[in-house]
Amino acid sequence: MAVVPATLNSTTLVGAAILAVLLLVVLRSFISHSDLDKAIPSVGVPRGPFAFYRGAWSFLKNGRAVTREGYLKYPGRAFKVPLANRWLVVLNGRTLIDDLRKAPADALCFHEGTNSILFLEHTLGHEQHHDPYQATVVRTPLTRNIAVCFPVIRDEVIAAFDDLVPATTDEWTTVPAMQTVLPIISRVTNRFFIGLKCRDPDYIKLTTQFALDVTSDAMWLHLVPSFVRPLAVHLFGHLETATRSAMKHVGPMIQHRLEMDDKYGRDWPNADRPNDLISWLIDEARGHPSRRNVRNLTRTLLNVNFGAIHTTTQGFLHALYNLAAHLQYVEPLREEIERVVKAEGWTKTAMGKMVKLDSFMKESARFVPGGAVMGLRKVLKDFTFSDGTTAPAGVLVAVGVLAEHHDEANYVNGGTFDPFRFARMRDDCGEGTKHQMSTPSHDFLVFGIGRTACPGRFFAVNEQKLMMAHIITTYDFKLKDGVFPEDEWIAVLGSANSTAEMMFRKRK
Ligand code: HEM
Ligand SMILES: *[C@@H]1O[C@H](CO)[C@@H](O)[C@H](O)[C@H]1NC(C)=O
Ligand SMILES: *[C@@H]1O[C@H](CO)[C@@H](O)[C@H](O)[C@H]1NC(C)=O
Repeated sequence: MAVVPATLNSTTLVGAAILAVLLLVVLRSFISHSDLDKAIPSVGVPRGPFAFYRGAWSFLKNGRAVTREGYLKYPGRAFKVPLANRWLVVLNGRTLIDDLRKAPADALCFHEGTNSILFLEHTLGHEQHHDPYQATVVRTPLTRNIAVCFPVIRDEVIAAFDDLVPATTDEWTTVPAMQTVLPIISRVTNRFFIGLKCRDPDYIKLTTQFALDVTSDAMWLHLVPSFVRPLAVHLFGHLETATRSAMKHVGPMIQHRLEMDDKYGRDWPNADRPNDLISWLIDEARGHPSRRNVRNLTRTLLNVNFGAIHTTTQGFLHALYNLAAHLQYVEPLREEIERVVKAEGWTKTAMGKMVKLDSFMKESARFVPGGAVMGLRKVLKDFTFSDGTTAPAGVLVAVGVLAEHHDEANYVNGGTFDPFRFARMRDDCGEGTKHQMSTPSHDFLVFGIGRTACPGRFFAVNEQKLMMAHIITTYDFKLKDGVFPEDEWIAVLGSANSTAEMMFRKRK
């Protein structure tokens, strides 16, 4: 196709982009995907001309229903649904989920799956695509430090709620739920990541906005042919601006840490090396010059924020809405929280002993997992599942999490919100950590599954439980409209309602 014109203005660029998209659309309708077409049945695709695109269009609106239809129609098998520009193969049932869990990364790849949706190179950065070492840091040093950092994390929970949900009187105050919880979670999370700097309003704006920019950049990049992407990102992308702005906030701090690291390593005079994510990243950057500089460390910090803040906010909001829609569960939770805190104080150990609270949060995540599919992987070489289905190289596969979470084969009365079901299971069989929220399984998939299951889940669960325990012991609360506010769905993504309001007052 086109030679890139020597002088580019935005009109020619938009023209070129539209032409390219049209060309792709036409090409796409000629390409026969016969391997895939024969091997795996499709759902949500009408008959007639441009069937794929009409299906893809309606999938944007009905993704949840289409995935459910496939689940019911093909139990224990795979089916495919039309995403905007490609097929997504959805796996059904325990056996296929186990196949995905056990598959080696050179066959079913998590990183390439994410990359197919997010264009990591352009939205999170070159080094984030080619050297994503933050998972190791989150999995080990960060997770190990939850217990020692717990008092600091709690300090931020208290301070953030005092600032955003002041309830010093007996009067009810009304707040927009999403716009209140999101900055609180940014603060609490970043207190653990970077210390008190987390309170800077501009920094909060940056961390909460960054994930939205990554997602919207990725969306329009899907419409741009690959050879135009670098230029398009240069002109319209958000990564550079976000990086520069983040460097203003954390650059000097990282620079200082690196200088001290050169001089003293981990053993600073008076043992006053901060114990936070920046230090743990620098530990993991030793001997890697490409990691060990202000810019790349800032990008890695942004990337961890990308994975941490909105995910935790979504899960927390769902749980909060569920509790406010079922106020009869507040009392048993209060009783448990106060009893445990009396014995253990506000510690990570205490969180571990709050079995009902864990069950409540987990049931909430089971009931509304925030999406219809999870555990996205790209097939790197033809992969044959246990049922004989072969997914050809290049295709995306995922698990139908919502249907799985509501299947009667997995859960008795799966369609009912039963907040203490996991607490009862733990009573019944005393199976240690098996039914805890932080343990992924074929029937609990919000944190993904297998080797790449979310490494931040232990922190996320502790943070969510601590925040919920704080709310339950500090406030009375209710939903302004009294009922669980509807999720907002686009294709397979279900977000917690972003406009619902909640009311709080000092606990009576
Ligand atoms: C409730 C909140 C959270 C949810 C629901 C969640 C969910 C997920 C999921 C589904 C995956 C992909 C797993 C797979 O497909 O196998 C993932 C990966 C990841 N998450 Fe989380 N996450 C949450 C919180 C966090 C937090 C707080 C952090 C950081 C402290 C974090 C860091 C990461 C990282 C670094 C990865 C990539 C793992 C890799 O590259 O192998 N997440 N998360
Ligand atoms: C940042 O990381 C990338 C990829 O690892 C590397 O090519 C680049 O040189 C690094 N930047 C600096 C300033 O070292
Ligand atoms: C969000 O919740 C509010 C209050 O319950 C409701 O009026 C609104 O329709 C919900 N939004 C969506 C997209 O359902």
